Amino acid sequence: MKILVTGGAGYIGSITTAELIAAGHQVIVLDNLYQGHAAAVPPEATFVQADLADREAVEQVFEQHPHIDGIMHFASYTLVGESMQEPLRYLRDNLVNAANLLEAAVTNGVRRFILSSTANLFDDPTTMPIEPDDRIVPGSPYGESKFFIERMLHWFDRIYGVKSICLRYFNACGDTPGRGEDHDPETHLIPLVLQVALGQRPHITIFGDDYPTRDGTCVRDYVHVVDLARAHILAMENLDRIGSRKFNLGNGNGYSVKEVIEMARKVTGHPIPHVVGPRRPGDPATLVASSNTIRQELGWQPRYPDLESIMRSAWEWHSSHPHGYKS
Ligand SMILES: NC(=O)c1ccc[n+]([C@@H]2O[C@H](COP(=O)([O-])OP(=O)(O)OC[C@H]3O[C@@H](n4cnc5c(N)ncnc54)[C@H](O)[C@@H]3O)[C@@H](O)[C@H]2O)c1
Repeated sequence: MKILVTGGAGYIGSITTAELIAAGHQVIVLDNLYQGHAAAVPPEATFVQADLADREAVEQVFEQHPHIDGIMHFASYTLVGESMQEPLRYLRDNLVNAANLLEAAVTNGVRRFILSSTANLFDDPTTMPIEPDDRIVPGSPYGESKFFIERMLHWFDRIYGVKSICLRYFNACGDTPGRGEDHDPETHLIPLVLQVALGQRPHITIFGDDYPTRDGTCVRDYVHVVDLARAHILAMENLDRIGSRKFNLGNGNGYSVKEVIEMARKVTGHPIPHVVGPRRPGDPATLVASSNTIRQELGWQPRYPDLESIMRSAWEWHSSHPHGYKS
């Protein structure tokens, strides 16, 4: 298939692009390099540097690359905390950028769409692990912006026949030998812990150790980026068969912050000092996904089901690229 990948110079988008190419697909990457890295885009992909806010530029991508079979939409503002400081950038721009993309898709006859959605839709879950049909309570303007896009996709299916799969990922993590996580600022636990092991930070801060969990620290579901990439490919390849759907995507195993730090100590051999700070507002104690529906309907199985294999892949990338793509 010929796939347009927005955000394909970013962490998850670039690794998905590499997996798509390995699976025999043709890829056009659209990215404005706001957070992404040109070096992350596989050389076999066609790279277009453009901003989704620029409607004409987006339309031109479809004109210059006719017969696109489907879109994977990763490009977004992505930081929960930042969205609490700058809500409009998230509530307006994430939505408008997705609308520009969908408008061009419909105009050019593209009817397959995979959205990077998020666990931040579930700030107050009623069950654990969280099922895709649990009640939606976005935890931030970031989560709300993803919910808006999910709702827009609902109407684009009913009115224009655009079929979509929304993949609500939990904590994306892990790396591949050639591509990995290189965010500035970095906010994710595993790369932050590994920065301590590399001597780039003096310690890791644990935000709260008095949660109602097995060791008092927050429990999260860590899902490897290659497993996310494979879920996108399965979703795109099976979209015509299963139609529009929403899937939660995680390992189904929760690990606490202390367990993640302990695993990093084991894998790196570094003592990784930590300090305990106050809770961060809005951090739920436990977030674990039920991925039963995507397992049943698409046969998705994680290749990295345990924290040790995830941590080893992350350490391989971070120790060989201590300054990310600038290394
Ligand atoms: N990383 C996670 O744990 C996680 C969890 C749930 C959902 N997600 C979602 O997955 C997607 C990818 O996340 P990531 O961690 O790879 O982020 P990332 O920042 O590494 O990648 C996003 C890419 O989009 C590009 N981009 C941003 N705005 C753009 C615009 N207006 N026009 C063109 N390109 C633009 C950036 O330059 C970047 O390369 C995001 O939509 C994010 O919300 C991520």
